This record gives sequence, structure tokens and C-alpha cells, in this order.
Amino acid sequence: MKGGGAYINIGSSSSSINSSVSGSGSGSGNGNGSKMTLGKSVKMYLTIFIATTCIYMVLYQYHMSREPFSPSEIGKPPLYIITPTYRRPEQLAELTRLGYTLKHVANLLWLVIEDANKTNPLVAHTLDRIGVPYEYMVAPMPEKYKQTKKAKPRGVSNRNRGLEYLRQHATEGVLYFADDDNTYDISIFEQMRYISKVGMWPVGLVTKTGVSSPIIRNGKLDGYYDGWIGGRKYPVDMAGFAVNVKFLRQRPHAQMPFKPGYEEDGFLRSLAPLANDEIDLLADECRDILTWHTQTKKNPPAQALNKTRYSNTNLEHIDKLLVRP
Ligand code: UGA
Ligand code: MN
Repeated sequence: MKGGGAYINIGSSSSSINSSVSGSGSGSGNGNGSKMTLGKSVKMYLTIFIATTCIYMVLYQYHMSREPFSPSEIGKPPLYIITPTYRRPEQLAELTRLGYTLKHVANLLWLVIEDANKTNPLVAHTLDRIGVPYEYMVAPMPEKYKQTKKAKPRGVSNRNRGLEYLRQHATEGVLYFADDDNTYDISIFEQMRYISKVGMWPVGLVTKTGVSSPIIRNGKLDGYYDGWIGGRKYPVDMAGFAVNVKFLRQRPHAQMPFKPGYEEDGFLRSLAPLANDEIDLLADECRDILTWHTQTKKNPPAQALNKTRYSNTNLEHIDKLLVRP
């Protein structure tokens, strides 16, 4: 639309220049051949000049429209998105979906932290292809939790590694824990940039209530709605809060406990002192749902490829892209 507008403007100014040039030619009134030729070549050069200008303007507009972010967007407070991930058949699909959501968000660093002892080149390749600025690190779950038959503290060592990274490298902005399998409307990222201490908002698809949310009464935070309260001070989902980096750095001991079900509560408690009226209420004062705790169907590990039957075929290449547990 913008490009078209610029083109039309220049076109109309060109016709006014043309008419003034031809007007001066006829104004001399003597039909002289060389004057006519001069007039014609001036006209021709002007036409070429204007046409070239038009083409450059259109190309410039196209170039600008391909630039993902304007300078004003890049000057916004930075976002640090901490994403725990782990090896499984769905891993690359989840990271791809989340990555392309984050690609719509300016001034963001994606901290992808895998529950593993070493990085996986397939993950690095996926992150490179998406093109969102990222750091890829590992933080294995401690062995004693891996062995347990009970519920595991999923993603906790990853998130604590992310916090450690922020204490070393970040001074301002906002951090958010974005699990690799959830769904995020990009407007929540623009809102969370301006959180002064802690911000909260509703998360869909949580427990039997279908949503986990702060309760707002008379404009004030007045408890929490969630199908499972479990004695928590902050019964919120991981996808439902974000924290200012400066505020985090003023609490050097804040971290997430290895306590299944109580990860969010433990972390938010570790940010004390934090009064209820210091919690920013996002998503239209918690009247809207912009994040969802989606869960992906578990896929069985891919069976081994018959290397004899499929030798010298594309399947040899595809097989190397499959994430097996
Ligand atoms: C819910 C919460 O949303 C999580 O934030 C919380 O950590 C988890 O419960 C819990 O209390 O254990 P849920 O959907 O049940 O999450 O768990 P997953 O999505 O399987 O895991 C949460 C995050 O940790 C994901 O980003 C996942 O990639 C990662 N994870 C999971 C690991 O890093 N290691 C694992 O062994 C499992
Ligand atoms: Mn999940």
C-alpha cells in the first residue's frame, strides 16, 4: 500500500513537470526543428530520470518492508526467554513452532537450555534455521531426580541455569519461562517488557477449571483461580508470569526448587519481599487469555531404518534428522 502511494505521487508530479516543459516549447511559437529536438530530448531524459527514481523508490520500500524490525522496536527493553527442552521425538517440532512465534518479537534473546550432558547438533541446526537470536546451553537434571519413580522436577535445572546466565550477562529487561510445548500470543511479549517487578496473567488449558488465573476484584489482586491450589501462596502456571531482570538481580538467592508441582510457587516465594500490589496484571487486567498450557501427544520413538533396503536413498538423510530418545 505504501509503495503504491509513493509511486502515484511521483507519477503525478512527473506529468506536471512534463506539461511545463512542453508548455515552454510551444510558448516560443516558432516551430524551429532543433528547438523541438532539444525539447524532445529534455523530455526523454526527464522521463528516464523519473522512471529510474520511481524504480529505486519501489525497491527501497520493498527492502524496508523486508526488514523485520524498525529502530524504535529494537530500542525497547530486552526480553530473555528461558526455554527448557529435552531429547524426544517431538523436540524439533516444538522448538520450530515456538521459535517462529518468537521471531515476531523484537529485542529478544532466546535461552534454549537442554536437559542433557551435551548439546545436540540437530537442535543447534534447527535454531540456526529459525534465525531468532539464541544461546543454546545444557543443564542436566540431577541423577537422583532422574532415577525417582515419583513425579520429576521437569525443566528445573534448565531454568536455574537460565537464571545464572542472566545474573552474569543481563542488567535490564524482563525474563520469562516459556516451556517448549506451550502456545503464546505475541502480544503478551510486548506487554511483559514493561513489568516493573513481577507480572501475572491467565493461562488457558490448566486443570479442570480450564484456566489458571489471578482473581481481580475491584481492580486488585484477590487470590487465584486454579483447579489445584495445593497450599501454594502463588498457585500459578509457569506460562503465567514474568519477572523484571533488575528486580531479580536484587534477589541474588532467588531460584527454582526441585519440587514437582511447586516450582512456580517456590520461585515466586524466593523473590520476597513482593507485595500483592507490586504485581502487574497483564492481558487486559487478566480478562484475556494469551497463553495456553498445550500438551503434545507423545510419539513412539521412530523404528530403525533398514539401511540395506534403503541404501543410496533420501531416507538415509532423513533418518539422521530423527530425534530418538
Ligand atoms: C508443567 C509446568 O508447565 C512446567 O513448567 C513444570 O515444570 C511441570 O509441569 C512440572 O511441574 O513438572 P508439563 O506440561 O506437565 O509442565 O511438563 P513438560 O512440558 O513435560 O515439561 C516442562 C518443561 O520442561 C518443558 O519445556 C520440557 O521441555 C522440559 N523438560 C521436561 C525437561 O527439560 N526435562 C524433562 O525430563 C521433561
Ligand atoms: Mn508442557
